[in-house]
Amino acid sequence: MTQPSAVGGLASSVAGHEVTVDLGLRSYAVAVGSGILTSVGPRLQGLGFQGRCAIVTNDRVAPLYGPAVLASLRSAGLDPIVIEIPDGEAQKNLTMLSTIYDRLLAAGLDRSSVIIALGGGVVGDLAGFAAATYLRGIAFVQLPTTLLAQVDAAIGGKTGVNHPRGKNLLGAFHQPRFVLADVETCATLPRREFLAGMAEVVKYGVIRDAALFHDIATHSDAILAQDRDRLVAVVAACVRHKAAVVASDEYERSGARAVLNFGHTVGHGVEALTDYTRYLHGEAVAIGMVAAARVSQALGACGADVVASIDGLLRRLGLPTELPVPRAALVAAMTSDKKSTSGRIRFVAVETIGRTRLVDLSATEIVDHL
Ligand code: NAD
Ligand code: GLY
Repeated sequence: MTQPSAVGGLASSVAGHEVTVDLGLRSYAVAVGSGILTSVGPRLQGLGFQGRCAIVTNDRVAPLYGPAVLASLRSAGLDPIVIEIPDGEAQKNLTMLSTIYDRLLAAGLDRSSVIIALGGGVVGDLAGFAAATYLRGIAFVQLPTTLLAQVDAAIGGKTGVNHPRGKNLLGAFHQPRFVLADVETCATLPRREFLAGMAEVVKYGVIRDAALFHDIATHSDAILAQDRDRLVAVVAACVRHKAAVVASDEYERSGARAVLNFGHTVGHGVEALTDYTRYLHGEAVAIGMVAAARVSQALGACGADVVASIDGLLRRLGLPTELPVPRAALVAAMTSDKKSTSGRIRFVAVETIGRTRLVDLSATEIVDHL
C-alpha cells in the first residue's frame, strides 16, 4: 500500500511516503513528508483542479503557512480566496459554517471548485463539512498542520461541527480528494499539542502494530526532538493504519473502524467531566487508554505487563495517565457519548500490544472494572 516517492521535489524535502486510502472510486492519496507543503499547487493541478478555490484556515496557522500555500496554488494556475476563521474548538459550530458558506457563495465557487483545509482537526472538520454540503457537495483537500490531524483527523472522511448538546453531533462522511501531511509544520506546534498528537500515535501501536509501539519506546527522544526522518516514518506508519482501517469499514458499520476508539470511551468521559477545558483530546485519550488497559486486564483479556507498558510509554512521552475524575461520575458521562447504542458500549479491549477485541459492556461494567 505504501511506496516511497519523491513527493514535493524541493531541495529541502526528505524522501516522502505515499499511502493510498483504497475506497474504489473515492480512493485518494495521502502524501507524507518533510518540506512538501509547497507541492500542493502542482498536486492539485495534477488532479485536474483549476480556477477558483478556497483555503479555509485560522488566524494562528494562516500567518505561518498561508503565504507558502497561496504561492504554490497560484503558481499552478489556481485562483484561491482565503477564509480565515478565529482559532479554537469553539468555532466548530453551525454559525461559523454559515459564514464559510457566505464566503464561498460570494467568491463564486462552483461544483468544480475545491476547498483546501489548512490547519488542525478543527479547521479540517469544519472545511470538510462545508465541502460535503456546499452545492450538495464539492471536492476538498486536507493540509493537516497538527500531529493529531496528520495521523488521524485528516484521513477517513469524518467531517462535522459541534452542537451545544455534544461534540461532533452534526456532520457527514465526505472523503477528501487528497491529503498532504508535511511534518515540518509540527515544528511550530505548541509542545503540548505535539504530545497530545503522540497519544494517538501510541494508540496505533497498541491496536495494530507492536513494532511501531516498540519503535516509539526505543526512539522516543528522537521523536520528541522531531527528528525529521523519524517523524516522517512514524506519521506514515500511522497513516497506513488509518487508511487500512477506513478502507475496511468506511462508515463504521462492521466494527473494524471502532478499533480506532481505543481509549476514547473513558477519554471522552474525562473530557466531558472537565468541561473540555482541562485536557487536550489526546491527553484525555492517554488517560483513557490506560483505563481501557486496566479494564482489559480485569476482564482477563491481557496481563498486567500490557497495562504497565502502555502506562510507561505514555508517561515517558509526558502524557497524563491517572484518572482525574471520580469513577462514579464517569458512568453518566460515558453513557451520553454518541458511540453508545441502547446503553451498551462497544468497548475496545487490548489483548496484547498490537491486538484488540471488541466487548459489549455497559458504562457501569466498565467503571466496575477500572
Ligand atoms: P486544533 O485544530 O484545535 O489545533 C490545535 C491548536 O494548534 C490550535 O490552536 C491551532 O490553531 C494550532 N495549530 C495548528 N497547526 C499549527 C501549527 N503547525 N503551528 C502552530 N499552531 C498550530 O486541534 P487538533 O488537535 O488538530 O484537532 C482536534 C479536532 O479534531 C477536534 O475538533 C476533534 O473533534 C477533531 N477530530 C476529528 C477527527 C476526524 O476523524 N474527523 C479525528 C480526531 C479529531
Ligand atoms: N477518529 C476516529 C475515526 O476516524 O474513525
